[in-house]
Amino acid sequence: MRMTVFGTGYLGATHAACMAELGHEVLGVDVDEAKIERLRRGEVPFYEPGLPEILRKHVDSGRLKFTTDYAEAAEFADLHFIGVGTPQRKGEFAADTTYVEDVVARLSPLLTRDAVLVGKSTVPVGTAVRLQGIADWHVRSGVRAEVVWNPEFLREGFAVKDTLTPDRIVIGLPGGEQEQSLARELVDEAYAPILESDPCPVIVTDLATSELVKVSANAFLATKISFINAVSEVCEAAGADVTVLADAIGMDPRIGRRFLGAGLGFGGGCLPKDIRAFMARAGELGADEAMTFLREVDSINMRRRERMVDLTVEACGGTLIGKTVAVLGAAFKPNSDDVRDSPALNVAGMLSLKGAQTVVFDPQALDNARALFPTLGYAESALQACDGADVVLVATEWAEFVELDPAAVAEVARGRILLDGRNCMPGDTWREAGWTYRALGRGVPVRAGSGTPARAGLVTA
Ligand code: UGA
Repeated sequence: MRMTVFGTGYLGATHAACMAELGHEVLGVDVDEAKIERLRRGEVPFYEPGLPEILRKHVDSGRLKFTTDYAEAAEFADLHFIGVGTPQRKGEFAADTTYVEDVVARLSPLLTRDAVLVGKSTVPVGTAVRLQGIADWHVRSGVRAEVVWNPEFLREGFAVKDTLTPDRIVIGLPGGEQEQSLARELVDEAYAPILESDPCPVIVTDLATSELVKVSANAFLATKISFINAVSEVCEAAGADVTVLADAIGMDPRIGRRFLGAGLGFGGGCLPKDIRAFMARAGELGADEAMTFLREVDSINMRRRERMVDLTVEACGGTLIGKTVAVLGAAFKPNSDDVRDSPALNVAGMLSLKGAQTVVFDPQALDNARALFPTLGYAESALQACDGADVVLVATEWAEFVELDPAAVAEVARGRILLDGRNCMPGDTWREAGWTYRALGRGVPVRAGSGTPARAGLVTA
């Protein structure tokens, strides 16, 4: 089957390569010439495990091609996926949908026969209907372009696996479940190989529900993380251990342990902007009260970053001036080079502004971090970052940081303080090696009768 994919970022490039892997003929489309040139050579312009292999395989096999030419795309297929970005609008909470609108406005007049435009981007509810209006306005007479929605749930770092073996496929059609149309036929055909090899539930619904499924899923995940981080603040005040607490509540299958990882909180190109866009859209629809709790979810999340900075100041004896802090991690999560709204890089920036000599290392995100925060210090390895450091701060839970040898770090570092922003480090091992280990959400037990609440994160030997 032939299809195009508009947008070649984390979502679009992965979708295009995975569709080729399923046996389809795919044309990836983007307005960025340089990016398309790299993709044509079989190079992935970002870090995503497993993607370079399938991309190269299908560029070589000829099943996956790339272009910047919309007319070529219009001619190539009748099924067009749209996976361009919907970032937060400048100075507002709402999502900027101009990129999806541009694709529809530019592609529609070039169509010479009926076609289906399948939105995959995360959009405010109501966008698909609006895009249908744009398509209707631009198509030639006698040509019909139907806009449908098929939200994507892939996680960066697991994008290939999530695309090839999804938990569920959600398809939003204007006519809902009953609709029999070219759109239904083509989308079913595109996903048939997945359903044959490793079946998953397929939910066919109306457009609005499909758009809301996606933002609700991300809002729920963000809420779950902020819930445990709010409890983490209480743990710090009460001298309790949030990681033990999370294990214990997570054993209840109604709660579940996943996404109860307390620490620096969520970042990236999706969760933060999606909860804000959800609040903005609910407000536009007159349902703003329903989503006001997301404001709190956002605040709890941002407070964790400040708490990490306070903990570092505390560990440095009250001031960061003249202190060197090694920040291990710049990506918003491991197995990614994405630094968009990264808690790690944000903390590194705040430490630097407070006067610390900040040296950052990340296994994959250094180039992106440098481009965003050129004034920070950068190292080429974790040990190099720790060289002369008074404090070592783990901000992204890359496996190579978790596996660091405390003795090897002690040989190069000036201080012996490890701050764990992700509750991922083996604290006991570091304490046994002579380090002071402090982590977010894990206070020392309150001493009976002392009357003073334990200070946050003081898990010491
Ligand atoms: C998220 C969703 O998980 C995907 O389902 C969705 O498709 C995607 O957004 C999207 O909308 O495109 P992603 O942004 O790749 O995926 O990252 P997550 O794995 O969800 O992690 C988000 C952030 O939460 C990271 O900064 C991570 O460190 C943090 N996190 C995650 C925690 O702080 N604690 C946890 O327990 C889990």
